[in-house]
Amino acid sequence: MYLAFMSYPYQITSYSRYREEYARSEQDPEAFWEDIASHFIWRRKWDRVLDWNFHEPHVKWFLGGRLNITENCLDRHLREKGDTPAIIWEPNNPEEFSRELTYRELFDQVNRFCHVLVRNGVKKGDRVCIYMGMTPELAIAVLACARAGAIHSVIFGGFSAQSIADRIQDAGAEYVITSDGAYRGGKDIPLKQVMDDALGGCPGVKRVIVAMRTRTPVSMMKGRDVWWEDEVAAVDAIAPGNFEAVEMDSEDPLFILYTSGSTGKPKGVVHTHGGYMVYTHYTFINVFQYQPGEIHYCTADIGWITGHSYVLYGPLSAGATTLMFEGIPTWPDAGRFWQIIERHRVHILYTAPTAIRSLMSFGTGPFEGRDLSSLRVLGTVGEPINEEAWHWYHQHAGGGRCPVVDTWWQTETGGVMISNLAGVTPQKPAYATLPLPGVHPLLVDESGKEITGNGVSGNLCIRHPWPSMIRTTYGDHERCRQNYFSTYPLLYFTGDGALRDGEGYYRITGRVDDVLNVSGHRIGTAEVENAINMHTGVVESAVVGYPHDIKGQGIYAFVLFSGHHGSDEELTRRDILQTVARVIGPIAKPDKIQFVTGLPKTRSGKIMRRILRKIAEGEREQFGDTTTLLDPGVVGEIASGKI
Ligand code: WTA
Repeated sequence: MYLAFMSYPYQITSYSRYREEYARSEQDPEAFWEDIASHFIWRRKWDRVLDWNFHEPHVKWFLGGRLNITENCLDRHLREKGDTPAIIWEPNNPEEFSRELTYRELFDQVNRFCHVLVRNGVKKGDRVCIYMGMTPELAIAVLACARAGAIHSVIFGGFSAQSIADRIQDAGAEYVITSDGAYRGGKDIPLKQVMDDALGGCPGVKRVIVAMRTRTPVSMMKGRDVWWEDEVAAVDAIAPGNFEAVEMDSEDPLFILYTSGSTGKPKGVVHTHGGYMVYTHYTFINVFQYQPGEIHYCTADIGWITGHSYVLYGPLSAGATTLMFEGIPTWPDAGRFWQIIERHRVHILYTAPTAIRSLMSFGTGPFEGRDLSSLRVLGTVGEPINEEAWHWYHQHAGGGRCPVVDTWWQTETGGVMISNLAGVTPQKPAYATLPLPGVHPLLVDESGKEITGNGVSGNLCIRHPWPSMIRTTYGDHERCRQNYFSTYPLLYFTGDGALRDGEGYYRITGRVDDVLNVSGHRIGTAEVENAINMHTGVVESAVVGYPHDIKGQGIYAFVLFSGHHGSDEELTRRDILQTVARVIGPIAKPDKIQFVTGLPKTRSGKIMRRILRKIAEGEREQFGDTTTLLDPGVVGEIASGKI
């Protein structure tokens, strides 16, 4: 049953091979993916590779196939790689010891925690909300849910109680896994306390499992809250042995991950066992050109899709060693990443442009005395990378010798869609370059007409399904259709704009919808507006993005406020920030708040964001056509207003 692999036969190792594979994936996508899928352990082989239409949408891969993704991430490596580290964990504080879990140890821990889940009532298909810091227990919790057939929904530690409650309710989660607290830089985040606030609004939650990390005092409600460590000890006392992975259908949901769109509340993107496994594995091997024995360090938090796909599932399915870091790049100083790379002899570093720009602002001092010669590949994800940051990363982190992969993808795509393959296909600063095999991008104009040829730009769409594409938005399939499949009929619309240069390389220029990308975090303008409008005295608000040196985009809020500022406008600003932090979380706090006496609206009442964006960017005079505005005078007033 266990297939061992020393290398990956589907790893593309030359540009001509990439061309061939790409052509093959275009001619016969089903045969192409069937081939890749045959390298995994399936309990039952699929009857049909693909069934789809983009009307509903309806997308199913490997129909009738039965498997559990964790058998491919854990069991199959035991024989050859039982003693190889699966996870290297680096704590927030460099003085604390790091931990290593071999594949066998990770397998054991996941098995024990599966017993804990079942003992606490978790069944196949149940939703489990996970809210933890970046510790090995988080990885264990995620994998144990998958192994027990439960659907995990991980929530990033920066979200507020209100956001957690919304997600728990939307997913109908009856189980929660959290920890007392989390260390992040100089802070100790009281996760359980935040969770307690959330749970006040979630009577449906039956059980909360709390892991110890910071040993901050926490309240533990009898009958609902249990300690992780006690539960594991109770399981060990019975010594139930390994936990047989629950057999899943290829299309059974593996997880829900909430992400922001241009309207309303965040939506729960659903991924499934079969397709997600095949695609994250394939892209991991090819984009980073992973070689057995190497250490892969993806700095993303597991609360985001990058953490799901390239800290956990992609690397583990490949039998790789994945490095998980609890802290932040700038604590205790801006040399933390380089210290980790030197300490663990890291080969692949995958991080976000915002982290790179933030480190750039500290100069090159933090590199001094660091031996980064183990590095072989660098990667970026999450937002467009400017050329200056690209070159800095390439030269200072990579010593000018490591290829940089600029990987474009989304929560909805599950894995990397457009990227160079490290050292194999050409790289071009600030360009994601070429699509992965099996990915068929196209550019369209506003009316949905395809823009062909090179040296053009437009809205980025995808033509054919790929195995890890979004299946639905949890509990509301219509929303999935409307969001992604209705703007341009029969195409998946990404929400991004892109250009294709003379050689056919793609450069992603950013969102064309009302979604902001702040430090690589997706935030809907409507969400921030709703939060601001909840503040007492606020009549109305409009939120736009503006260029920000480090965050990529900053949040600029225009607020119509009817309340009294009391003695000080600045205090009102701070109160509004506090409201936003409460409603969404600290990550959504506006960088700038400008109080206005009116917003530029059309006669039909629509806010003209185009004008506000210009003002936020610093434009004071040229606003284009304002004749359709109800009160064009308001524009000059806002433009001359102060913040
Ligand atoms: C943006 C993150 C330019 C894009 C994996 C996309 C990028 C959104 C890149 C998805 C890149 C991601 N170059 N822009 N290499 N990668 N983006 O869902 O706007 O958190 O739509 O997924 O990030 O963000 P998400």
